[in-house]
Amino acid sequence: MRTQRLDTSPQSIAVAAELLRHGELVAFPTETVYGLGGHALDQAAVAAIFAAKGRPTSDPLIVHLATAADLPRVAVDIPPLATELATHFWPGPLTLIVPRHPHVPRTVTAGRETVAVRVPSHPIAHALLVAAGVPVAAPSANRFGHTSPTTADHVLADLDGRIAAIIDGGPTPIGIESTVLDCTTNPPTLLRPGGISLEALTAMAGPIQTYHRTTDRSETGLVSPGLLDRHYAPDHELWLFSGPPTAVLHRLRSEAETALAAGLRIGLLLPAEDLVLFDDLPVEMESLGPVTEPETMAQRLYAALRALDARHPDRILTRDLDESGLGRAICDRLRRAAARLVIV
Ligand code: TXA
Ligand code: MG
Repeated sequence: MRTQRLDTSPQSIAVAAELLRHGELVAFPTETVYGLGGHALDQAAVAAIFAAKGRPTSDPLIVHLATAADLPRVAVDIPPLATELATHFWPGPLTLIVPRHPHVPRTVTAGRETVAVRVPSHPIAHALLVAAGVPVAAPSANRFGHTSPTTADHVLADLDGRIAAIIDGGPTPIGIESTVLDCTTNPPTLLRPGGISLEALTAMAGPIQTYHRTTDRSETGLVSPGLLDRHYAPDHELWLFSGPPTAVLHRLRSEAETALAAGLRIGLLLPAEDLVLFDDLPVEMESLGPVTEPETMAQRLYAALRALDARHPDRILTRDLDESGLGRAICDRLRRAAARLVIV
């Protein structure tokens, strides 16, 4: 199968919508990352999503809707808090876990009685969902376990020939996936930090429990199967240094020097301010942007990881960032992508 590359014209969106309605797979931009879309109520299309990604069928998909008014099409017994949050944060990068409507195939929800739903704010995603007129299941458009795609080229690097089409809408503005909040627990549970900060959610919803992978994880009892370790990973080893920034940078520099002396190729993924400290070393560098701009760092994170990967370093070194606001989501992805965590 050749993957058709479509522009964002109304004619192209009509073509993509028609493909979706007929059970074909179409990748499209959202405000977070590119999604790999398929008709959510069509069993065969849903099965094709898992196959194209190489994703285990135990990992449920997010259903995307054109508007919050469509929520009763895919969910029942919607908790009042979910309605409140939807009213406030949709369209936008928040995924709500709510009880599943019986006509949503169990393949979408990986056998669960709950379904993940979101209404994206990206104008192309919105136009596509309106034109398709059906709920669209869409995981991030990467091979399973790989870094999420923030450009059409990232998608094609992973999925060219495996999907019918992609709409190229340029780089995605937020760059990191949606926040996933389980509204079926009391208080609600943050399953994945993302584009809407925990602070913003708490201001609206009151107390929220956070899910701790290290303590809650078991082989059989994963709350959210996407919360596996070694997720979002680059092809080359990522080492994450955690601790007070000054000490971390000192340690990072000595690790880089030792590795270089041993003949290894080293990549650095750091805020712009940090990189100047390594200017004199023969290393590959990718800047996340100013450390004071978490939005910029989130937007660049996955593209920077892929760019470093493409230069085949033996090891990529990075550090923890401040966890407030979007920083929580960035640190979460770095931890999951890391092959090794070094506490300084
Ligand atoms: O920003 C995003 O959310 C992007 C764009 C394309 O919308 N999508 C995305 O999908 O990141 P995916 O499949 O890569 O991540 C969905 C996450 C997974 O961790 C999955 O386990 C979790 O949501 N999830 C889906 N349904 C669930 C459910 N019923 N209960 C608990 N977790 C669920
Ligand atoms: Mg994903």
